[in-house]
Amino acid sequence: MSSAHYQALESQTSDEDNEDIERRQHPNHPRSTTVKTTAPHPMVRKGAVARRRCLLPLAGGALFFIAFCYFTLSGETRITLGLGGGSEDSEEGSHRGLDSIHFRPLNESLHICSESYEDRRQFMQDKPQSDYGLLPIIYFVTPTYPRREQIPELTRLAHTLLHVPRLHWLVADDQEKCNDFLDTLLNRFGIPFTHMVSPMPIKFRNEKPAPRGVANRRAALQWLRQHNLTNGVLYFGDDDNTYDLRLFSEIRKTQRVSMFPVGLIADYGVSGPVVRRGKVVGFLDSWVAGRRWPVDMAGFAVNLEYMAQYPYVNMPYKPGYEEDLFLRSIDLQMNLIEPRGNNCTEILVWHTQTKSKKMGMVRLESKYLDERSNLGALLLNLKLMGVASTTENEGRNALISKNGKEKAHSYFLS
Ligand code: UGA
Ligand code: MN
Repeated sequence: MSSAHYQALESQTSDEDNEDIERRQHPNHPRSTTVKTTAPHPMVRKGAVARRRCLLPLAGGALFFIAFCYFTLSGETRITLGLGGGSEDSEEGSHRGLDSIHFRPLNESLHICSESYEDRRQFMQDKPQSDYGLLPIIYFVTPTYPRREQIPELTRLAHTLLHVPRLHWLVADDQEKCNDFLDTLLNRFGIPFTHMVSPMPIKFRNEKPAPRGVANRRAALQWLRQHNLTNGVLYFGDDDNTYDLRLFSEIRKTQRVSMFPVGLIADYGVSGPVVRRGKVVGFLDSWVAGRRWPVDMAGFAVNLEYMAQYPYVNMPYKPGYEEDLFLRSIDLQMNLIEPRGNNCTEILVWHTQTKSKKMGMVRLESKYLDERSNLGALLLNLKLMGVASTTENEGRNALISKNGKEKAHSYFLS
């Protein structure tokens, strides 16, 4: 995410995050023996660690305290804020600190509402399904959450995805209970899908900004890991973005990590890689904030075989840093990035945002919500979709009119 309202890395902390990004040595990692293990990890946020480390030395003496904090902060600040720490500017060296340090594997509790592996679509983009049989599958991960706009957003997105062959749609809803209406909707499209619920942990709910869509994406990552999928491509596709069909053919080619510009991001109206001679050399994004990978969630795709090499793949609850920290957890390096979209000159995905409004309220006596008119069934549907509810006594009576004149409800409904 590129957003000026997010603060730099030190401001947000949470225990869970710290657990997730706990430094660990992974004995089987190919490069774990070749590097120093003492370097502070860029994933470890400066503030959290600094506070903890600063408490201990209080007991030990003021001098030690100052020296220790200075040392600790300066090292992490250099790395987390990308200010250069000797090796920061050298492409290869900049990642050496990460090589030896690994994270906990995700351990999310998965609740699957329903899933279907059957592709019931006969034709996609004027070709029969059988023409696409050999293509790698795109795992399209959509975090979503209940609000008035949820069903319309997912309906629009589904109608894009209906044109995309060999795609498994992972829809992860940010709530406790399975939404039956959503289940029915997803089933109707005939696109292979998994519908799961994965609510944001309560402790993050009231944070401003909250880590939106993280619990759900983590659950989807867990699902991919549990299924041992090493063939295919992962893409994080939010429910409110706009996707060009060419995006899907582009990301399907991903060998390791693809990147491409996203339109309508923050101040510049765009966020994406800077490419020279076919190689990514930097990033254009109006909110850097120390991020090594200042890209939007919609601006990259990952090959599952590549991702499978990193058992500690993670997306910490760190608003604004989800993309960066996820990409760090799979040890991305500049020279691995594959620029897409005609060398990052085209926009294949837009960060459109839908204006959000509170739930509609229709005041109508419940005795009229029966089969005598359409209104009973219509309003029930809207309620199931989370769009509008009915009330008997709150606010103004619902306006029902004929020939430009409001009439009593009984006129039409009794
Ligand atoms: C931007 C990025 O495009 C997101 O990928 C990123 O997660 C988000 O910022 C962030 O860092 O907070 P933005 O348009 O600002 O997205 O955020 P939303 O579209 O509101 O949320 C991103 C995704 O998370 C959406 O698919 C949304 O349905 C989902 N979400 C949002 C939840 O699952 N729970 C919430 O409480 C809010
Ligand atoms: Mn959005």
